[in-house]
Amino acid sequence: MVTTQERVGAEPDFALNPSGQFGVYVHVPFCASRCGYCDFNTYTPGELGGATPAGWLEALRSELALASQRLPGPTVDTVFVGGGTPSMLGGDGLAEVLDAVRSEFTLAPDAEVTTEANPESTSPGFFTRLRTAGYTRVSLGMQSVAPTVLRLLDRVHSPGRALDAAREAQDAGFEHVNLDLIYGSPGESDDDLHRSVDAAIGAGVDHLSAYALVVEDGTALARRVRRGEVAAPDEDVLARRYELLDTWLADAGFTWYEVSNWSKPGGECRHNLGYWNGGQWWGAGPGAHGFVGATRWWNVKHPNTYAALAEKRELPIADFEVLAPRDRHVEDVLLQIRLRSGLPTSLLDADEQARAESAVAAGLLVHDGHNLVLTDRGRLLADGVVRDLLAD
Ligand SMILES: C[S@@+](CC[C@H](N)C(=O)[O-])C[C@H]1O[C@@H](n2cnc3c(N)ncnc32)[C@H](O)[C@@H]1O
Ligand code: SF4
Repeated sequence: MVTTQERVGAEPDFALNPSGQFGVYVHVPFCASRCGYCDFNTYTPGELGGATPAGWLEALRSELALASQRLPGPTVDTVFVGGGTPSMLGGDGLAEVLDAVRSEFTLAPDAEVTTEANPESTSPGFFTRLRTAGYTRVSLGMQSVAPTVLRLLDRVHSPGRALDAAREAQDAGFEHVNLDLIYGSPGESDDDLHRSVDAAIGAGVDHLSAYALVVEDGTALARRVRRGEVAAPDEDVLARRYELLDTWLADAGFTWYEVSNWSKPGGECRHNLGYWNGGQWWGAGPGAHGFVGATRWWNVKHPNTYAALAEKRELPIADFEVLAPRDRHVEDVLLQIRLRSGLPTSLLDADEQARAESAVAAGLLVHDGHNLVLTDRGRLLADGVVRDLLAD
């Protein structure tokens, strides 16, 4: 396990490493309703305790100003506005968010600027406004086209709305559009997944993320599973569905570049590649995580606590940790092994290299130049491969 050096109540040292990619993540902590499977840091109107999007935006501006004072003016390669439901802010609200980032940081001329959006809070005018504001990429939560699956997941949009939204985004000039799918939901059939994947491909997007349904502790879904109302996702079914969707996507010209992410050439999400490749980023907004130098930190979670600290002109940090070299090594292995580009063999010590050879012999890893890459079977067992590699 990662061991960390915890420091509570003090501001961390933001010693930016000048090389590599730098990103800004902005967390929008609002949702109209909560999907039963989701444990992200997000609040429905009844949970906000008076917090408002306007108050959040003001606090965000304050955090970004403090951030830019602490950093030596890095050029921002990528911006990612996630949630929660960023599209609840509307096109004008998201334009203000990007302006807030731009007023404190210099964006690279070719910066990738993504926002997540929920299908039901989008429209052609929304996407046009995002384009004129400077967004270059949209990520839409589709999850499935099967009405029973959407119902089980508490999704409020119709099966077709995510597809229409994906087309509207492209019509507004977005070259890069992602659709998120969830597979392995109780009640989903192989055929349901096939129809979802075909529909997503047919919408003309250049990126697809597909996540196995995780029953997160503390969610409504976890309670339903505990009460025996719905079955937990079955490991064998999840593995088969992954293999199926990988085959369907490959047939349609999509290549996996991370275990849960597929794209057409040039459609990879550069912001997320930054996370996996050890890049640095400032995470702004309630509950956001950031990573600069060897320091990882995370913000206070509730929008009211966040706004109260911002009003005092304090960084809204809940806690931080400084990664020791061994922690950093574990992170690098954990993240880079998931990439199609693979894990540089040179990152591994002699014992780890010997264990990697056992994984190669077992058909879980292959050598690709100087890197080790998961095989198709290895992708299904990625967590176990990492555990075995790092076993001391
Ligand atoms: C947290 S959401 C934010 C974006 C947006 N609000 C939405 O719902 O599309 C990002 C993605 O995470 C995935 N996700 C969230 N919780 C999950 C879970 N328990 N299991 C699998 N995927 C999950 C969903 O595919 C979702 O689209
Ligand atoms: S999945 Fe998206 S819409 Fe649903 S509760 Fe989570 S963040 Fe909100």
